[in-house]
Amino acid sequence: MRRPLIAGNWKMNTTVEEAASLATAIAGGLQAGYAVDTVLCPPFISLYRVSETIRGTALKLGAQNMYFKDSGAFTGEISPLMLKSICQYVILGHSERRQIFGETDQLVNEKVRAAVAAGIIPIFCVGETLQENESGKTGEILTRQVSEGLKGVPSGKEVVIAYEPIWAIGTGRAADGTQAGQTIGLIRGVAAGILGQQAAGTARILYGGSVTAANIAEFVGEHQIDGALVGGASLKAGEFTDIVKQTASLKAKP
Ligand code: PGA
Repeated sequence: MRRPLIAGNWKMNTTVEEAASLATAIAGGLQAGYAVDTVLCPPFISLYRVSETIRGTALKLGAQNMYFKDSGAFTGEISPLMLKSICQYVILGHSERRQIFGETDQLVNEKVRAAVAAGIIPIFCVGETLQENESGKTGEILTRQVSEGLKGVPSGKEVVIAYEPIWAIGTGRAADGTQAGQTIGLIRGVAAGILGQQAAGTARILYGGSVTAANIAEFVGEHQIDGALVGGASLKAGEFTDIVKQTASLKAKP
């Protein structure tokens, strides 16, 4: 039994004040308590403020990126050591990091290993481009990203994987639920080869890409899909809390 997880990736949105208000509104909407790990991932500059805002609630905090060294001459970077006292999660290898900032499988792997070593749970992202998808290369691409990204992760360390087809991110064109479920099954199989059967069986694997309150049921209704990494819709407190509530009720069913 894997506990469902919904993470909100706020990307480069919200000022510190806006982030605190959004977190307050989300905490208010989820006050009743739901059996879903709910993670807010605001920009770096708002992490501390949001950590104070959600103190005493069930909400968890995640960063959107991290470097793999603890300290040193790395201008502009944030380390596991800095994050670990306030964040339980960190998004790593998001396709925007890979595509816009040139992050390679090797760099993402360094980060994933540094996160687990620091006791921060990585939300490790993988996904194929439209071109790769259309030329039938999805399996090959995901197999490479998952094997390279998880290489050397010690067994027994928790990792969350997010499958985010790049063509579905921010486009309003979400993947088909059944297809995403099958692809996530494939990812779980590849992860088993690296982490071991048991760890891959208990690892939570999320779908991401144009998830909304209108389509979340299609994804979390799939046995293989343990939740979602939500971008745009996570900036609206009402819609985000609705996504969490639907996930709780759908996953509670036998
Ligand atoms: P989206 O983004 O929900 O806006 O498509 C998802 C993500 O990039 O994590």
